[in-house]
Amino acid sequence: PAFWAVIPAAGVGSRMRADRPKQYLTLAGRSILEHTLECFLDHPHLLGLVLSLAADDPYWPQLPCAQDPRIQRANGGAERVDSVFNALLRLEELGAQADDWVLVHDAARPNLARADLDNLLGALANDPVGGLLAVPARDTLKRAGEDGRVRETIDRSVVWQAYTPQMFRLGALQHALADAQVAGVAVTDEASAMEWAGQAPRLIEGRADNLKITRPEDLQWLAQRWKQ
Ligand code: CTP
Ligand code: MG
Repeated sequence: PAFWAVIPAAGVGSRMRADRPKQYLTLAGRSILEHTLECFLDHPHLLGLVLSLAADDPYWPQLPCAQDPRIQRANGGAERVDSVFNALLRLEELGAQADDWVLVHDAARPNLARADLDNLLGALANDPVGGLLAVPARDTLKRAGEDGRVRETIDRSVVWQAYTPQMFRLGALQHALADAQVAGVAVTDEASAMEWAGQAPRLIEGRADNLKITRPEDLQWLAQRWKQ
């Protein structure tokens, strides 16, 4: 199906401890953000793309793609959810309809495979709710007590890691995010807002290497992999 893309890129990357926000660090000769944008801009069914940026971001204007007319800007907010919310409002201004599909994808995930994107779009095209790329837990999982000792082993077969893109209909996602905000619920991804609204987003298995660059070793790992 046709879809809109929202890329929150207004974070500071504190866990990365670099000299700039991690989306502007270099991976294989280009910024992480450029790699992330490419997968969407190359897609024939993309209706438009909104990028949430920090108001005082000095790095974005220096990138070649800053002039790309397909990329619209929104203001970043204090938390990721605020950056996404602002981008959804911008989508409305661009003419997006309540029933349109929106894919929200972290700027810090530059290794999204086209096949994964197409799997997500294909699997959810007729879904009443939407869903997300996710990866089944691989290791044995333990629940810890405050003393740092194991309380129990968790059934691994029902645990997944939530990745992005996360794909929902614009109106439903806006309502879920707004309601969660009013209720003071912590929302770390779009699916958690939908869950809070009583929906059950579908898990679509994706590749583990669509990882979010969070710490320095994540970038080292990906850079090494791209060299091969
Ligand atoms: N993000 C955003 N607005 C915020 C916070 C985060 O748009 N207020 C974006 C980040 O730019 C990133 C994505 O959300 O692409 C995932 O967030 P995360 O990995 O936590 O990035 P940062 O918040 O930048 O990193 P950290 O938490 O280590 O500071
Ligand atoms: Mg963060």
